[in-house]
Amino acid sequence: MRGKFITFEGIDGSGKSTQLRMLADVLRSRSVDLVLTREPGGTRLGRRLREAFLETEDAVAPLAEMLLFAADRAQHVELLIKPALEAGRTVISDRYADATTAYQGAGRGFSTDTIKQITELATGGLKPDLSLFFDAEVAAAIARSSNRHDADGTRNRMDLETVDFYTRVREAYLKIAAEEPKRFRTVDANGSIHETHDNVIAIVCELLGIAARAEV
Ligand code: ADP
Ligand code: TYD
Repeated sequence: MRGKFITFEGIDGSGKSTQLRMLADVLRSRSVDLVLTREPGGTRLGRRLREAFLETEDAVAPLAEMLLFAADRAQHVELLIKPALEAGRTVISDRYADATTAYQGAGRGFSTDTIKQITELATGGLKPDLSLFFDAEVAAAIARSSNRHDADGTRNRMDLETVDFYTRVREAYLKIAAEEPKRFRTVDANGSIHETHDNVIAIVCELLGIAARAEV
């Protein structure tokens, strides 16, 4: 049976990567055959692209940026995501195509039509079975993200964006949630890490058809 494809989305600092790690620990303890990945940078080529266009101080033209996210995604879908799903594995990706709708569409101003065409081309129409949108208040998320980057030194070009930019990105995610409520589920990410984790577990376990709590 084809595996399930789950993606995590949200503005930077919304706590998605923390939640992804915690979810992975729980699913592995339940023997779910899991592939954890991320965009950009889920493949070897993707990691090189990521360094070249994201982890740089060079100016990057918005069109080049959008096409590079798409190139990273095309490689990711073809070499990693599709084969894993076909092998029956559960794939969880920290970001996928909705990030392009939110960041390059609402953030940078590319039209919905352009984003749709590029995404269709890059993904061959592969959509997640479930996407979790971690909805955190913009100022709080920027503060969390900035603290994390001070601690681990992983700041990238996107971390220099404004409150106004992240507000547009958040609104774009909320619009997707309104348009596709079954696939794209909003999780309140303003509470504690453990409260958010409990909500994530409930939603993901329902999709995978496993109990939210292990038998004791
Ligand atoms: P993202 O992957 O969405 O950018 P992270 O998971 O890296 O976010 O979290 C950013 C920072 O915020 C990290 O230092 C993390 O420990 C912290 N953090 C995550 N979730 C919460 C939360 N619910 N409350 C407070 N801080 C959090
Ligand atoms: P990353 O360090 O992975 O961010 P985080 O851990 O906060 O998710 O950096 C990825 C950045 O790239 C992030 O700011 C979102 C942005 N991005 C886009 O603008 N478009 C995209 O299609 C994707 C996948 C990411």
